[in-house]
Amino acid sequence: MVTSSQHLVLVGMMGTGKTTVARVLGDRLGRPVLDSDAVIEARTGRTVREIFATDGEPAFRALETDVLREALASDTPSIIAAAGGVVLSPTNRALLKESGARVVWLCADPSTLVERVKSGGHRPLLDADPAGTLQRMFEEREALYREVADAIVLVDTRTVGEVVEAVLR
Ligand code: S3P
Repeated sequence: MVTSSQHLVLVGMMGTGKTTVARVLGDRLGRPVLDSDAVIEARTGRTVREIFATDGEPAFRALETDVLREALASDTPSIIAAAGGVVLSPTNRALLKESGARVVWLCADPSTLVERVKSGGHRPLLDADPAGTLQRMFEEREALYREVADAIVLVDTRTVGEVVEAVLR
């Protein structure tokens, strides 16, 4: 259970529903919701896709770390939807651990995600071979999500409402 002073952070692969679930949780708990991709886009005035294309993935990852660090340092307990790649960086994983935030991994089989991510314009990494890329990413990241997670919620067969209830439990 998340305490009243703790941030609640959702991590997980692209397409697991982090942003949608975070919005519903924000309404339910009366907390601000912060989506790391959205903060980066608002701050830079550029889309995630543009940043990847122009500056490259390392530049995007640096912005991601800045945004995560600031979000976790905020005194206002929030719901943070952290983009799928945040767990790649050891710095980010340490930030999550040290912050005392409650971290929930929304976990899905990569085959479930292929259908869900079809319309994802902010996901340039999936432009070529989405199914193969998701499978590879899952294999690379599974242990990292597990490392940072306080709880795991399986989302494959759950509706958004059911995922929200499971996170709250
Ligand atoms: C990424 C996930 C995306 C976005 C970018 C890279 C990743 O965010 O940050 O395309 O490496 O998993 P979502 O998880 O919100 O789709």
